[in-house]
Amino acid sequence: MPLVDLDRFDFLYAGRVKGMKTAATRDLMATLSRPGIISLAGGFPDTRAFGEEAFREISRSIAADAAQALQYGPTAGLEAIKDVIVEVMAVEGTPARQEDVFVTTGAQQGLDLIAKVFLDEGDAVLCEGPAYAGALNAFAAYRPRIAHVPMDRAGMIPVAARETLKKARKSGLHVKFIYTVPNFQNPAGVTMVAERRKELLEMAEEFDLVIVEDNPYGMLRFEGEPLPSLAALEQEAGDVDRVVYLGTFSKIFAPGVRLGWVHAQPGILHKINVGKQGADLCSSNLSQMMISSYFQNADWRAYVRRLTAMYKERRDAMLDALAEFMPKEVHWTHPEGGLFVWATLPSYLDATAMLPRAIAKNVAYVPGEGFYAGGSGKNNMRLNFSFVEPAKIRRGIELLSEVIRERMELRSDLERGSQRGLSSRSANRSARSFAAGTEG
Ligand SMILES: Cc1ncc(COP(=O)(O)O)c(C=O)c1O
Repeated sequence: MPLVDLDRFDFLYAGRVKGMKTAATRDLMATLSRPGIISLAGGFPDTRAFGEEAFREISRSIAADAAQALQYGPTAGLEAIKDVIVEVMAVEGTPARQEDVFVTTGAQQGLDLIAKVFLDEGDAVLCEGPAYAGALNAFAAYRPRIAHVPMDRAGMIPVAARETLKKARKSGLHVKFIYTVPNFQNPAGVTMVAERRKELLEMAEEFDLVIVEDNPYGMLRFEGEPLPSLAALEQEAGDVDRVVYLGTFSKIFAPGVRLGWVHAQPGILHKINVGKQGADLCSSNLSQMMISSYFQNADWRAYVRRLTAMYKERRDAMLDALAEFMPKEVHWTHPEGGLFVWATLPSYLDATAMLPRAIAKNVAYVPGEGFYAGGSGKNNMRLNFSFVEPAKIRRGIELLSEVIRERMELRSDLERGSQRGLSSRSANRSARSFAAGTEG
């Protein structure tokens, strides 16, 4: 890493650069590729599951259309991939029309474009607390205020969201949208219950806001019944209006193709289209054609089922290991799907400060701080279970629990030490005052 703080072009950079920071996970990547490290840090799907033969087959199937695959395409995406997206959304329970779908370079680009078209400096966004760090980073470039709304096991807490919105309105802040990952949230692993989804929609109506529903993990459900998306609930009540839905092929196919989509009403899509023209003209035709070919000709749902079964086994391994090894003062979430568990350590522990020690012991995680815009989450960690085999997950959690115990013991020793120090100091004081015949 260059010495970014001593950058000699500081006087030339735009003001917005000050708000931008790199994601802890991205910075960690170099360390995590070190042999022997058990990484519970990344958010990686297990692309090893896809296989060379299936990949070869897709490549062969689009070779005849090489000229188109290698060409620029329409900004909103090719027709064939939009048909696939409509099908995927239908399987997820959200009816969609082809004209309401817009292809992006990953859902990540969707987040950036939404921020680009909605946020002026000083506008506010309501996010879950904690929130997906990649979204916070994408928003940060447009310099908004981020208000985190606390979550519990049932997702974002509506009463708290309403309070925050009221306060923002009173203080003259312009809240533009609510950002939520309702299913198996990154990083907390919790799912918003149906009732709260409806409440959130009503709130958006009342305060006249947009809801950005980011749903990369909805199809990776291990147990329980699928819940209606906010986009589907809105359509039940009327038409596509204030819900901007983000989808992606990263978790149901592969992140390497960098392909996602936005589903929204035409006015919003038009602005996003203009924004995307300035960003990358269009997403890769090659990726779009590979995905269309696979989703049209192969049993993609069977592949998603295979991934889900594999992640479930790994989630179970993680939950079992946490129960077996962690000190009783540590708590964690029980995700019904997705890729992540969120752990909460005793409040006096600092997961960021603890990371080098964990890495020295060959285990890595993402400290919780990066999932908040303003300094919370110090005693939290995000643990990923999708990329590492169950036996390694178990070993990783065992190592991590050793690091946590070390820190807890260190703290107890320090406390005992300071108490001893205190009691010997006060004993000396009483002895002295006794000798002097005074008390005080
Ligand atoms: C909640 C959430 N949104 C968006 C993204 C970005 O996904 P994509 O690979 O489609 O850009 C991720 C990636 O992990 C994510 O967890």
